[in-house]
Amino acid sequence: MYGIDKSKLPRHVAIIMDGNGRWAKKNALKRLTGHKKGADAVRNAVRTCRELGIEYLTLYAFSVENWSRPKDEVRALMALLEEYLNSELQEMIDNGIKLSTIGNIRALPEKVQGILNNAVQKTAMNRKMVLTLALSYGGRDEIIEVVRKIVEDVEAGKLEKTSITKNIFSNYLFTSGMPDPDLLIRTSGEYRISNFLLWQMAYTEFYFADVLWPDFSKECLINAILDYQKRERRFGMTSDQLSGN
Ligand code: FPP
Repeated sequence: MYGIDKSKLPRHVAIIMDGNGRWAKKNALKRLTGHKKGADAVRNAVRTCRELGIEYLTLYAFSVENWSRPKDEVRALMALLEEYLNSELQEMIDNGIKLSTIGNIRALPEKVQGILNNAVQKTAMNRKMVLTLALSYGGRDEIIEVVRKIVEDVEAGKLEKTSITKNIFSNYLFTSGMPDPDLLIRTSGEYRISNFLLWQMAYTEFYFADVLWPDFSKECLINAILDYQKRERRFGMTSDQLSGN
């Protein structure tokens, strides 16, 4: 399909959706219109990943740092999230998409939390794809949270200090049970990871697209996957070791 090798699909794709504001400016529109177009691009990316058979899609929808944006913009983004969840729930159910979240969900407005919890519950049994929305998410905050929980468990005698391994640590993350991202896509020509999935991206392949998020089409996503498929992932080994020579 579209020249994509099904046997080499990334299991987990993570996306930093950047450039809604610049898209609006470029088109002489309000920032909110840029975010609305961004929500359409989200819909599109979810459908494409589902169609291609990607198992996990994780979207950076709202970072902890985003709380410092103007109040009106934060309110508009929350309203847009509500609207998105309300309009997409049925499609998620029909298409076997399981919704999950990472981040400090309790920081979100109660109404949004309610809608999220309902969608998470209603889709909990779905198995075709896991769609994870990172909301009020920060990678460093997540790591600190893990450290606190581990210390608590060690103090309570539930965990031995000497048995703390990379695997155990991963089990305490929000993403526990998910594979690490194979591919990270960031739009808008910025080359940063902006506090996203810091622990999880140790061996992730990065793909930076020059288009602004609202313009990130199905074709753009397919190109990112095709580019990923040309890469050799060595995880610190040599090419010969990987090919068994
Ligand atoms: C980046 O654009 C976008 C965000 C703040 C997060 C992503 C939000 C959406 C795609 C909107 C809706 C989301 C869902 C899940 C329905 P920016 O404002 O940082 O752009 P700029 O850097 O050009 O100003």
